[in-house]
Amino acid sequence: MKLAVTGKGGVGKSFIAGTLARLLAKDGYRVLAVDADPNINLAYTIGLKEEDISKITPLAVNRKLIEERTKIPGIPYGAFKLFPKVDDIVDRFGIRGPDGVMLLVMGTVQDGGTGCLCPAHAFLRNLLRHLIMERDEFVILDMEAGIEHLGRGTARNVDVMLIVVEPSFKSIETAQRIKRLASDIGIHNFVAVANKVSTKEEEEFIKMGLEKYGIPLLITVPFDKQIAYADLIKTAPIDYAPSSPAIKAVSQLKKSITEFMAKT
Ligand SMILES: Nc1ncnc2c1ncn2[C@@H]1O[C@H](COP(=O)(O)OP(=O)(O)O)[C@@H](O)[C@H]1O
Ligand SMILES: [Mg+2]
Repeated sequence: MKLAVTGKGGVGKSFIAGTLARLLAKDGYRVLAVDADPNINLAYTIGLKEEDISKITPLAVNRKLIEERTKIPGIPYGAFKLFPKVDDIVDRFGIRGPDGVMLLVMGTVQDGGTGCLCPAHAFLRNLLRHLIMERDEFVILDMEAGIEHLGRGTARNVDVMLIVVEPSFKSIETAQRIKRLASDIGIHNFVAVANKVSTKEEEEFIKMGLEKYGIPLLITVPFDKQIAYADLIKTAPIDYAPSSPAIKAVSQLKKSITEFMAKT
Protein backbone atom coordinates (compact mmCIF):
# COMPACT_ATOMS: atom_id res chain seq x y z
CA MET A 1 0.00 0.00 0.00
CA LYS A 2 1.24 3.45 -0.94
CA LEU A 3 0.01 6.38 1.08
CA ALA A 4 0.77 10.06 0.56
CA VAL A 5 0.18 12.59 3.35
CA THR A 6 -0.16 16.20 2.24
CA GLY A 7 -1.58 19.50 3.45
CA LYS A 8 -0.62 23.02 4.42
CA GLY A 9 2.52 23.51 6.54
CA GLY A 10 1.95 22.99 10.25
CA VAL A 11 -1.36 21.12 10.05
CA GLY A 12 0.17 17.94 11.49
CA LYS A 13 1.28 15.89 8.46
CA SER A 14 4.45 14.66 10.13
CA PHE A 15 2.62 13.86 13.35
CA ILE A 16 0.08 11.78 11.46
CA ALA A 17 2.54 10.17 9.03
CA GLY A 18 5.04 9.26 11.76
CA THR A 19 2.41 7.95 14.16
CA LEU A 20 0.74 5.90 11.43
CA ALA A 21 4.11 4.43 10.50
CA ARG A 22 4.71 3.32 14.09
CA LEU A 23 1.20 1.92 14.55
CA LEU A 24 1.35 -0.07 11.31
CA ALA A 25 4.79 -1.40 12.21
CA LYS A 26 3.48 -2.45 15.63
CA ASP A 27 0.81 -4.42 13.76
CA GLY A 28 3.54 -6.30 11.93
CA TYR A 29 3.63 -4.45 8.61
CA ARG A 30 6.95 -3.60 7.03
CA VAL A 31 6.88 0.17 6.82
CA LEU A 32 8.97 2.61 4.83
CA ALA A 33 8.36 6.22 5.83
CA VAL A 34 9.63 8.86 3.42
CA ASP A 35 10.23 12.47 4.43
CA ALA A 36 9.77 14.58 1.32
CA ASP A 37 9.40 17.86 3.18
CA PRO A 38 12.24 20.41 3.25
CA ASN A 39 11.89 20.69 7.06
CA ILE A 40 12.87 17.23 8.06
CA ASN A 41 10.83 16.40 11.14
CA LEU A 42 9.35 13.01 10.35
CA ALA A 43 12.34 11.47 12.12
CA TYR A 44 11.18 13.03 15.40
CA THR A 45 7.57 11.89 15.16
CA ILE A 46 8.76 8.35 14.37
CA GLY A 47 11.04 8.54 17.39
CA LEU A 48 14.56 8.16 16.04
CA LYS A 49 17.42 8.93 18.38
CA GLU A 50 18.75 12.48 18.32
CA GLU A 51 22.25 11.25 17.48
CA ASP A 52 20.92 9.42 14.41
CA ILE A 53 18.83 12.42 13.35
CA SER A 54 21.76 14.80 13.57
CA LYS A 55 23.67 12.74 11.00
CA ILE A 56 20.94 12.87 8.35
CA THR A 57 21.52 14.63 5.04
CA PRO A 58 18.40 14.78 2.88
CA LEU A 59 19.05 13.03 -0.44
CA ALA A 60 17.86 16.12 -2.34
CA VAL A 61 20.88 18.08 -1.10
CA ASN A 62 23.39 15.27 -1.49
CA ARG A 63 24.96 16.80 -4.60
CA LYS A 64 27.71 14.24 -4.86
CA LEU A 65 25.22 11.37 -4.95
CA ILE A 66 22.95 13.13 -7.42
CA GLU A 67 25.82 13.98 -9.72
CA GLU A 68 27.24 10.47 -9.52
CA ARG A 69 23.85 8.97 -10.40
CA THR A 70 22.75 11.34 -13.13
CA LYS A 71 26.05 12.01 -14.94
CA ILE A 72 26.40 10.45 -18.37
CA PRO A 73 29.98 9.18 -18.75
CA GLY A 74 32.03 11.05 -21.32
CA ILE A 75 29.50 13.84 -21.72
CA PRO A 76 29.98 17.23 -20.03
CA TYR A 77 27.49 17.79 -17.22
CA GLY A 78 24.53 19.49 -18.83
CA ALA A 79 23.01 16.43 -20.36
CA PHE A 80 22.01 14.00 -17.61
CA LYS A 81 20.24 10.72 -17.06
CA LEU A 82 16.47 11.03 -16.70
CA PHE A 83 16.19 7.59 -15.11
CA PRO A 84 19.20 7.29 -12.81
CA LYS A 85 19.83 4.16 -10.75
CA VAL A 86 17.91 4.33 -7.47
CA ASP A 87 17.12 0.75 -6.47
CA ASP A 88 19.87 0.63 -3.82
CA ILE A 89 18.96 3.93 -2.16
CA VAL A 90 16.69 2.55 0.59
CA ASP A 91 19.33 -0.02 1.59
CA ARG A 92 22.11 2.54 1.58
CA PHE A 93 20.39 5.56 3.09
CA GLY A 94 17.39 4.21 4.99
CA ILE A 95 17.58 4.50 8.79
CA ARG A 96 15.94 1.88 10.97
CA GLY A 97 13.81 3.35 13.78
CA PRO A 98 11.64 2.03 16.63
CA ASP A 99 9.32 -0.92 15.87
CA GLY A 100 11.42 -1.50 12.75
CA VAL A 101 10.09 1.49 10.80
CA MET A 102 12.49 2.36 7.98
CA LEU A 103 12.96 6.08 7.34
CA LEU A 104 14.25 7.64 4.15
CA VAL A 105 14.89 11.37 4.27
CA MET A 106 14.46 12.56 0.73
CA GLY A 107 13.92 16.28 1.13
CA THR A 108 12.81 18.25 -1.87
CA VAL A 109 14.06 20.82 -4.37
CA GLN A 110 12.11 23.99 -4.96
CA ASP A 111 11.74 24.98 -8.57
CA GLY A 112 9.58 28.04 -8.02
CA GLY A 113 6.81 26.47 -10.03
CA THR A 114 8.81 26.51 -13.27
CA GLY A 115 8.54 22.75 -13.61
CA CYS A 116 12.09 22.62 -14.94
CA LEU A 117 13.83 19.30 -14.91
CA CYS A 118 17.30 19.49 -13.38
CA PRO A 119 19.44 16.52 -12.28
CA ALA A 120 18.11 16.73 -8.70
CA HIS A 121 14.54 16.61 -9.97
CA ALA A 122 15.26 13.68 -12.24
CA PHE A 123 16.81 11.85 -9.30
CA LEU A 124 13.93 12.56 -6.88
CA ARG A 125 11.31 11.82 -9.47
CA ASN A 126 12.84 8.49 -10.32
CA LEU A 127 13.33 7.68 -6.65
CA LEU A 128 9.65 8.38 -5.95
CA ARG A 129 8.70 6.26 -8.94
CA HIS A 130 10.80 3.42 -7.55
CA LEU A 131 9.37 3.77 -4.02
CA ILE A 132 5.78 3.79 -5.24
CA MET A 133 5.97 1.35 -8.13
CA GLU A 134 8.56 -1.18 -7.05
CA ARG A 135 8.67 -1.46 -3.26
CA ASP A 136 6.44 -4.11 -1.74
CA GLU A 137 6.10 -2.72 1.78
CA PHE A 138 3.78 -0.12 3.26
CA VAL A 139 5.14 3.20 1.97
CA ILE A 140 4.08 6.43 3.69
CA LEU A 141 5.12 9.67 2.03
CA ASP A 142 5.17 12.82 4.16
CA MET A 143 4.90 15.28 1.31
CA GLU A 144 4.27 18.92 2.10
CA ALA A 145 1.73 20.63 -0.16
CA GLY A 146 3.85 20.43 -3.30
CA ILE A 147 3.26 17.18 -5.11
CA GLU A 148 4.95 18.13 -8.36
CA HIS A 149 7.59 15.40 -8.14
CA LEU A 150 4.86 12.83 -8.56
CA GLY A 151 4.75 12.22 -12.28
CA ARG A 152 1.55 10.92 -13.80
CA GLY A 153 2.55 7.29 -14.04
CA THR A 154 3.78 7.31 -10.45
CA ALA A 155 0.79 9.17 -9.06
CA ARG A 156 -1.66 6.64 -10.42
CA ASN A 157 -0.08 4.09 -8.11
CA VAL A 158 -0.65 6.09 -4.95
CA ASP A 159 -3.46 4.14 -3.28
CA VAL A 160 -4.70 6.90 -1.01
CA MET A 161 -3.82 10.53 -0.53
CA LEU A 162 -4.53 11.84 2.96
CA ILE A 163 -5.06 15.59 2.95
CA VAL A 164 -4.59 16.91 6.48
CA VAL A 165 -6.56 20.02 7.42
CA GLU A 166 -6.92 22.04 10.61
CA PRO A 167 -9.62 24.50 11.63
CA SER A 168 -8.37 27.31 9.40
CA PHE A 169 -9.63 28.76 6.18
CA LYS A 170 -6.18 28.55 4.60
CA SER A 171 -5.74 24.85 5.23
CA ILE A 172 -9.08 24.14 3.52
CA GLU A 173 -8.06 26.29 0.55
CA THR A 174 -4.78 24.37 0.35
CA ALA A 175 -6.75 21.11 0.46
CA GLN A 176 -8.77 22.23 -2.52
CA ARG A 177 -5.62 23.15 -4.45
CA ILE A 178 -4.10 19.76 -3.63
CA LYS A 179 -7.24 17.99 -4.71
CA ARG A 180 -7.09 19.74 -8.08
CA LEU A 181 -3.39 18.93 -8.56
CA ALA A 182 -3.98 15.35 -7.49
CA SER A 183 -6.89 14.86 -9.88
CA ASP A 184 -4.79 16.35 -12.69
CA ILE A 185 -2.10 13.72 -12.23
CA GLY A 186 -4.49 10.82 -11.78
CA ILE A 187 -4.92 10.39 -8.01
CA HIS A 188 -8.61 9.89 -7.37
CA ASN A 189 -8.62 8.40 -3.91
CA PHE A 190 -8.20 11.33 -1.59
CA VAL A 191 -9.64 11.75 1.85
CA ALA A 192 -9.24 14.46 4.43
CA VAL A 193 -8.13 14.07 8.02
CA ALA A 194 -9.18 16.92 10.29
CA ASN A 195 -6.50 17.58 12.91
CA LYS A 196 -6.20 19.88 15.96
CA VAL A 197 -9.95 20.12 16.38
CA SER A 198 -11.05 21.48 19.79
CA THR A 199 -14.76 22.23 19.44
CA LYS A 200 -17.89 21.11 17.62
CA GLU A 201 -17.90 24.48 15.82
CA GLU A 202 -14.41 23.86 14.47
CA GLU A 203 -15.40 20.43 13.28
CA GLU A 204 -18.50 21.90 11.59
CA PHE A 205 -16.36 24.58 9.91
CA ILE A 206 -14.09 21.89 8.44
CA LYS A 207 -16.97 19.66 7.38
CA MET A 208 -18.68 22.48 5.52
CA GLY A 209 -15.48 23.61 3.82
CA LEU A 210 -14.59 20.10 2.67
CA GLU A 211 -18.10 19.41 1.49
CA LYS A 212 -17.99 22.49 -0.69
CA TYR A 213 -14.94 21.08 -2.48
CA GLY A 214 -16.10 17.47 -2.55
CA ILE A 215 -13.39 16.09 -0.30
CA PRO A 216 -14.64 13.32 2.00
CA LEU A 217 -13.67 13.58 5.68
CA LEU A 218 -12.34 10.29 7.01
CA ILE A 219 -11.56 11.08 10.62
CA THR A 220 -11.22 13.89 13.15
CA VAL A 221 -8.17 14.06 15.39
CA PRO A 222 -8.61 16.29 18.45
CA PHE A 223 -6.27 19.08 19.49
CA ASP A 224 -4.19 17.43 22.17
CA LYS A 225 -1.75 19.34 24.39
CA GLN A 226 0.36 16.25 24.88
CA ILE A 227 1.14 16.09 21.16
CA ALA A 228 2.28 19.70 21.16
CA TYR A 229 4.36 19.07 24.28
CA ALA A 230 6.05 16.01 22.78
CA ASP A 231 7.31 18.31 20.04
CA LEU A 232 8.87 20.68 22.58
CA ILE A 233 10.83 17.88 24.20
CA LYS A 234 11.69 16.28 20.83
CA THR A 235 10.01 13.02 21.71
CA ALA A 236 7.77 11.01 19.42
CA PRO A 237 4.12 11.64 20.40
CA ILE A 238 3.45 7.90 20.37
CA ASP A 239 6.23 7.33 22.91
CA TYR A 240 5.37 10.32 25.09
CA ALA A 241 1.59 9.80 25.29
CA PRO A 242 0.62 6.48 23.70
CA SER A 243 -2.93 6.49 25.06
CA SER A 244 -3.71 10.17 24.53
CA PRO A 245 -6.88 11.11 22.58
CA ALA A 246 -5.00 12.18 19.43
CA ILE A 247 -3.01 8.94 19.25
CA LYS A 248 -6.23 6.97 19.71
CA ALA A 249 -7.75 8.88 16.79
CA VAL A 250 -4.73 8.08 14.59
CA SER A 251 -5.18 4.48 15.62
CA GLN A 252 -8.74 4.67 14.26
CA LEU A 253 -7.32 6.14 11.08
CA LYS A 254 -4.94 3.19 10.81
CA LYS A 255 -7.90 0.86 11.17
CA SER A 256 -9.80 2.60 8.37
CA ILE A 257 -6.76 2.42 6.11
CA THR A 258 -6.12 -1.26 6.68
CA GLU A 259 -9.81 -2.01 6.15
CA PHE A 260 -9.70 -0.04 2.91
CA MET A 261 -6.66 -2.10 1.93
CA ALA A 262 -8.46 -5.35 2.60
CA LYS A 263 -11.28 -4.25 0.32
CA THR A 264 -9.11 -3.30 -2.66
N1 LIG B 1 -3.58 16.94 17.25
C1 LIG B 1 -2.67 17.83 17.65
N2 LIG B 1 -2.81 18.49 18.82
C2 LIG B 1 -1.90 19.40 19.23
N3 LIG B 1 -0.79 19.72 18.55
C3 LIG B 1 -0.58 19.09 17.39
C4 LIG B 1 -1.50 18.13 16.88
N4 LIG B 1 -1.00 17.67 15.68
C5 LIG B 1 0.15 18.35 15.48
N5 LIG B 1 0.42 19.20 16.49
C6 LIG B 1 1.58 20.10 16.62
O1 LIG B 1 1.57 21.01 15.53
C7 LIG B 1 2.88 21.29 15.08
C8 LIG B 1 3.00 20.99 13.60
O2 LIG B 1 2.87 19.59 13.39
P1 LIG B 1 3.64 18.84 12.23
O3 LIG B 1 3.26 17.42 12.26
O4 LIG B 1 5.10 19.15 12.29
O5 LIG B 1 3.02 19.57 10.95
P2 LIG B 1 3.42 19.51 9.42
O6 LIG B 1 4.25 18.30 9.21
O7 LIG B 1 2.11 19.47 8.69
O8 LIG B 1 4.15 20.79 9.11
C9 LIG B 1 3.81 20.47 15.95
O9 LIG B 1 4.31 21.26 16.98
C10 LIG B 1 2.92 19.37 16.49
O10 LIG B 1 3.35 18.90 17.73
MG1 LIG C 1 6.20 18.07 8.46
